[in-house]
Amino acid sequence: MSDSSNKGVVLITGASTGIGAVYADRLAKRGHDLILAARDEARLNALAERLRAETGVKVEVVKADLTDKADLVRLEERLASDPTIDVLVNNAGAAGFIGFSTTDRDAIDRLIQLNVTAVTRLAQAAASAFVPRERGTIINLASVVGLMPELRSPVYGATKAFVLYLTQALREEFPAGVRLQAVLPGATRTEIWERAGRDVNDLDPNMVMDVDDLVDAALSGFDQGELVTIPSLPDPADWNAFQAARGKLAPNLSRRYPADRFRTA
Ligand SMILES: NC(=O)c1ccc[n+]([C@@H]2O[C@H](COP(=O)([O-])OP(=O)(O)OC[C@H]3O[C@@H](n4cnc5c(N)ncnc54)[C@H](OP(=O)(O)O)[C@@H]3O)[C@@H](O)[C@H]2O)c1
Repeated sequence: MSDSSNKGVVLITGASTGIGAVYADRLAKRGHDLILAARDEARLNALAERLRAETGVKVEVVKADLTDKADLVRLEERLASDPTIDVLVNNAGAAGFIGFSTTDRDAIDRLIQLNVTAVTRLAQAAASAFVPRERGTIINLASVVGLMPELRSPVYGATKAFVLYLTQALREEFPAGVRLQAVLPGATRTEIWERAGRDVNDLDPNMVMDVDDLVDAALSGFDQGELVTIPSLPDPADWNAFQAARGKLAPNLSRRYPADRFRTA
């Protein structure tokens, strides 16, 4: 995506604000034409106008609610059939709720539709075009919350663990020419907090990243070829050690007999 030889079109979901809007800014400045999707058309148009004026790239706006099946299918069809699209930034998402037992089930369902179903279906639509071409890029926005059940955000965290797993598993399946990245932001200063009824200013400011820094770091991780990028993690060896610990379990995760401690006399 960074090399000048290939400036394919980038489709960004959730581009009306926050992380998605900064991706739009940075990728326009790298010379990519853009398709920006979200529900708030006025905000998308304002961003599109600014980016056209500042960078000269083509920017198309698609009003879409990714929890609406018809809107989602329209975007999928575009991804699957438009040969100019080379990159999907699967970014749209919402944060979760505190108190699983008291949360409205339909609200949980909508969160899963946005953070899991839409992400998966859009990735599949992109893959159906990219894999035969052996070219293209899918960037999925996960979260460090997906690594930390202790944070007591069970549904949001589980959706983000799903996104990380999906990305890692697709790496095993896709040809090398199709690039993948899971980005795991920590707390980042965007509207996601107030949309979920939280005040980001209640957090220790040393734990909250500015959204410009977050996206610049994520793109640097992409340029360095990372499959999983945790923008705040100082030493990638820590992530590699975590993966190695998982690998150590592998030979014993499926065996003919139960472990000795489970054997009854
Ligand atoms: N900020 C953080 O602390 C943080 C940390 C870890 C991971 N992340 C992840 O990063 C991604 C972006 O988050 P953000 O912080 O930038 O959030 P944000 O500022 O709240 O922006 C979310 C974007 O998603 C769009 N969106 C929300 N619901 C949608 C729907 N039903 N259909 C289509 N678009 C929808 C919103 O646009 P409209 O309202 O116009 O539709 C907006 O453009 C998310 O996947 C989030 O989980 C964020």
